[in-house]
Amino acid sequence: KSRREVGGNRQAAWEALREKAAHCTRCHLYKHATQTVFGEGHVDAPLMFVGEQPGDQEDLAGHPFVGPAGQMFNQALAEAGIDRATAYVTNAVKHFKFEQRGKRRIHSKPDGAEIEACKWWIGQERDIVQPKLTVALGATAARSLLGRVVTISGARGIQHRLADGGEAMVTVHPSFLLRIPERDRADTEYRRFVGDLKRVRERLA
Ligand code: URA
Repeated sequence: KSRREVGGNRQAAWEALREKAAHCTRCHLYKHATQTVFGEGHVDAPLMFVGEQPGDQEDLAGHPFVGPAGQMFNQALAEAGIDRATAYVTNAVKHFKFEQRGKRRIHSKPDGAEIEACKWWIGQERDIVQPKLTVALGATAARSLLGRVVTISGARGIQHRLADGGEAMVTVHPSFLLRIPERDRADTEYRRFVGDLKRVRERLA
Protein backbone atom coordinates (compact mmCIF):
# COMPACT_ATOMS: atom_id res chain seq x y z
CA LYS A 1 0.00 0.00 0.00
CA SER A 2 1.21 3.49 -0.74
CA ARG A 3 1.82 5.87 2.12
CA ARG A 4 -0.96 8.07 0.83
CA GLU A 5 -3.43 5.22 0.85
CA VAL A 6 -2.49 4.31 4.42
CA GLY A 7 -2.75 7.98 5.36
CA GLY A 8 -6.19 8.17 3.75
CA ASN A 9 -7.37 5.13 5.67
CA ARG A 10 -6.08 6.58 8.90
CA GLN A 11 -7.85 9.85 8.24
CA ALA A 12 -11.11 8.02 7.55
CA ALA A 13 -10.68 5.89 10.69
CA TRP A 14 -10.02 8.99 12.74
CA GLU A 15 -13.07 10.80 11.37
CA ALA A 16 -15.26 7.79 12.15
CA LEU A 17 -13.84 7.68 15.66
CA ARG A 18 -14.46 11.37 16.27
CA GLU A 19 -18.03 10.97 15.06
CA LYS A 20 -18.52 8.06 17.47
CA ALA A 21 -17.02 10.07 20.34
CA ALA A 22 -19.54 12.84 19.73
CA HIS A 23 -22.19 10.47 21.13
CA CYS A 24 -20.14 9.07 23.99
CA THR A 25 -21.98 8.04 27.16
CA ARG A 26 -19.18 5.97 28.73
CA CYS A 27 -19.37 8.10 31.86
CA HIS A 28 -21.88 10.63 33.15
CA LEU A 29 -19.94 13.77 32.12
CA TYR A 30 -21.70 14.04 28.76
CA LYS A 31 -24.92 14.99 30.56
CA HIS A 32 -23.82 18.51 31.49
CA ALA A 33 -21.07 19.33 29.00
CA THR A 34 -21.90 21.14 25.75
CA GLN A 35 -20.12 18.64 23.52
CA THR A 36 -17.31 16.11 23.26
CA VAL A 37 -14.00 17.85 22.64
CA PHE A 38 -12.05 15.33 20.60
CA GLY A 39 -8.34 15.39 19.78
CA GLU A 40 -7.08 17.36 16.80
CA GLY A 41 -4.11 17.35 14.48
CA HIS A 42 -2.45 15.25 11.81
CA VAL A 43 -3.37 11.58 11.98
CA ASP A 44 0.29 10.73 11.37
CA ALA A 45 1.78 13.30 13.75
CA PRO A 46 5.06 12.15 15.37
CA LEU A 47 4.13 13.99 18.55
CA MET A 48 1.02 13.73 20.73
CA PHE A 49 0.14 16.04 23.61
CA VAL A 50 -2.39 14.89 26.17
CA GLY A 51 -4.05 17.41 28.49
CA GLU A 52 -6.53 16.82 31.30
CA GLN A 53 -9.96 17.75 30.03
CA PRO A 54 -11.52 20.61 28.08
CA GLY A 55 -12.08 23.83 30.00
CA ASP A 56 -14.98 26.26 29.76
CA GLN A 57 -13.88 27.77 26.44
CA GLU A 58 -12.93 24.44 24.90
CA ASP A 59 -16.34 23.06 25.84
CA LEU A 60 -18.04 25.91 24.00
CA ALA A 61 -15.69 25.95 21.01
CA GLY A 62 -15.38 22.18 20.61
CA HIS A 63 -11.58 22.36 20.24
CA PRO A 64 -8.80 21.45 22.70
CA PHE A 65 -6.54 24.05 24.29
CA VAL A 66 -8.10 27.23 22.89
CA GLY A 67 -8.69 29.05 26.22
CA PRO A 68 -6.18 30.63 28.65
CA ALA A 69 -4.27 27.36 29.19
CA GLY A 70 -4.14 26.94 25.41
CA GLN A 71 -2.64 30.39 24.98
CA MET A 72 0.01 29.63 27.58
CA PHE A 73 0.66 26.31 25.82
CA ASN A 74 0.97 28.00 22.41
CA GLN A 75 3.42 30.55 23.75
CA ALA A 76 5.61 27.88 25.37
CA LEU A 77 5.52 25.73 22.21
CA ALA A 78 6.62 28.71 20.11
CA GLU A 79 9.48 29.45 22.50
CA ALA A 80 10.57 25.82 22.38
CA GLY A 81 10.50 25.88 18.57
CA ILE A 82 7.64 23.38 18.19
CA ASP A 83 4.98 24.09 15.59
CA ARG A 84 1.65 23.07 17.13
CA ALA A 85 0.40 22.13 13.66
CA THR A 86 2.89 19.24 13.61
CA ALA A 87 1.41 17.70 16.76
CA TYR A 88 -1.78 15.85 17.66
CA VAL A 89 -3.40 17.48 20.69
CA THR A 90 -5.95 15.70 22.83
CA ASN A 91 -7.20 15.27 26.40
CA ALA A 92 -7.38 12.38 28.87
CA VAL A 93 -11.06 13.19 29.45
CA LYS A 94 -13.14 14.54 26.60
CA HIS A 95 -16.03 16.23 28.35
CA PHE A 96 -15.82 19.35 30.53
CA LYS A 97 -16.43 18.60 34.21
CA PHE A 98 -17.47 21.61 36.22
CA GLU A 99 -19.40 23.00 39.15
CA GLN A 100 -21.90 25.72 38.44
CA ARG A 101 -21.40 28.77 40.66
CA GLY A 102 -23.87 31.43 39.65
CA LYS A 103 -23.16 32.11 36.01
CA ARG A 104 -19.64 30.71 36.20
CA ARG A 105 -18.66 27.15 35.48
CA ILE A 106 -15.72 26.19 37.66
CA HIS A 107 -13.46 23.37 36.43
CA SER A 108 -13.42 20.28 38.62
CA LYS A 109 -10.85 17.52 38.39
CA PRO A 110 -11.89 14.27 36.70
CA ASP A 111 -11.82 11.27 39.05
CA GLY A 112 -10.31 7.83 38.51
CA ALA A 113 -13.50 6.32 37.08
CA GLU A 114 -13.90 9.13 34.55
CA ILE A 115 -10.26 8.88 33.50
CA GLU A 116 -10.66 5.11 33.19
CA ALA A 117 -13.86 5.37 31.14
CA CYS A 118 -12.29 7.84 28.74
CA LYS A 119 -9.07 5.86 28.33
CA TRP A 120 -10.72 3.84 25.61
CA TRP A 121 -10.77 6.89 23.32
CA ILE A 122 -7.12 7.75 23.93
CA GLY A 123 -6.26 4.14 23.13
CA GLN A 124 -8.11 4.38 19.82
CA GLU A 125 -6.51 7.74 19.00
CA ARG A 126 -3.08 6.29 19.78
CA ASP A 127 -3.72 3.24 17.58
CA ILE A 128 -4.44 5.53 14.65
CA VAL A 129 -1.80 8.23 15.17
CA GLN A 130 0.96 6.01 16.62
CA PRO A 131 3.09 8.96 17.69
CA LYS A 132 6.79 8.54 18.20
CA LEU A 133 6.57 10.54 21.40
CA THR A 134 3.68 11.43 23.70
CA VAL A 135 3.76 14.24 26.24
CA ALA A 136 1.50 14.10 29.28
CA LEU A 137 0.59 17.60 30.40
CA GLY A 138 -0.08 17.21 34.11
CA ALA A 139 -0.95 14.41 36.50
CA THR A 140 -4.32 13.44 35.01
CA ALA A 141 -2.82 12.83 31.56
CA ALA A 142 0.09 10.96 33.16
CA ARG A 143 -2.32 8.79 35.13
CA SER A 144 -4.31 7.97 32.01
CA LEU A 145 -1.26 7.14 29.91
CA LEU A 146 0.83 5.33 32.52
CA GLY A 147 -2.14 3.57 34.11
CA ARG A 148 -1.17 4.56 37.63
CA VAL A 149 -1.18 7.59 39.88
CA VAL A 150 2.08 9.55 39.64
CA THR A 151 3.38 12.86 40.89
CA ILE A 152 4.81 15.34 38.41
CA SER A 153 8.00 15.67 40.46
CA GLY A 154 8.48 11.89 40.37
CA ALA A 155 7.59 11.34 36.71
CA ARG A 156 9.23 14.40 35.13
CA GLY A 157 12.53 14.08 33.31
CA ILE A 158 12.14 10.34 32.70
CA GLN A 159 11.46 8.53 29.42
CA HIS A 160 8.42 6.36 30.06
CA ARG A 161 7.54 3.27 28.04
CA LEU A 162 3.79 2.89 27.66
CA ALA A 163 1.85 -0.38 27.59
CA ASP A 164 1.16 0.14 23.85
CA GLY A 165 4.91 0.40 23.17
CA GLY A 166 4.96 4.17 22.78
CA GLU A 167 7.38 6.50 24.50
CA ALA A 168 6.17 9.25 26.81
CA MET A 169 7.38 12.21 28.79
CA VAL A 170 5.59 13.94 31.64
CA THR A 171 5.57 17.66 32.36
CA VAL A 172 3.32 20.16 34.10
CA HIS A 173 -0.08 21.27 32.88
CA PRO A 174 -0.11 24.84 31.50
CA SER A 175 -3.02 25.71 33.87
CA PHE A 176 -0.70 25.00 36.79
CA LEU A 177 1.53 27.82 35.53
CA LEU A 178 -1.45 30.18 35.37
CA ARG A 179 -2.31 29.49 39.00
CA ILE A 180 1.08 30.39 40.53
CA PRO A 181 0.59 33.73 42.28
CA GLU A 182 4.25 34.70 42.82
CA ARG A 183 5.79 36.31 39.76
CA ASP A 184 9.29 34.88 40.26
CA ARG A 185 8.11 31.35 40.82
CA ALA A 186 5.73 31.57 37.87
CA ASP A 187 8.63 32.68 35.65
CA THR A 188 10.87 29.90 36.92
CA GLU A 189 8.22 27.24 36.38
CA TYR A 190 7.40 28.58 32.93
CA ARG A 191 11.09 28.38 31.94
CA ARG A 192 11.19 24.80 33.20
CA PHE A 193 8.15 23.97 31.11
CA VAL A 194 9.75 25.50 28.00
CA GLY A 195 12.90 23.52 28.86
CA ASP A 196 10.87 20.29 28.90
CA LEU A 197 9.36 21.17 25.53
CA LYS A 198 12.83 21.84 24.10
CA ARG A 199 13.84 18.33 25.18
CA VAL A 200 10.73 17.03 23.43
CA ARG A 201 11.82 18.77 20.23
CA GLU A 202 15.36 17.38 20.55
CA ARG A 203 13.99 13.90 21.12
CA LEU A 204 12.06 14.11 17.86
CA ALA A 205 14.90 15.58 15.80
N1 URA B 1 -6.96 22.15 29.81
C1 URA B 1 -6.81 20.91 29.29
O1 URA B 1 -6.29 20.01 29.92
N2 URA B 1 -7.23 20.71 28.08
C2 URA B 1 -7.79 21.63 27.32
O2 URA B 1 -8.16 21.33 26.21
C3 URA B 1 -7.93 22.92 27.88
C4 URA B 1 -7.51 23.15 29.12
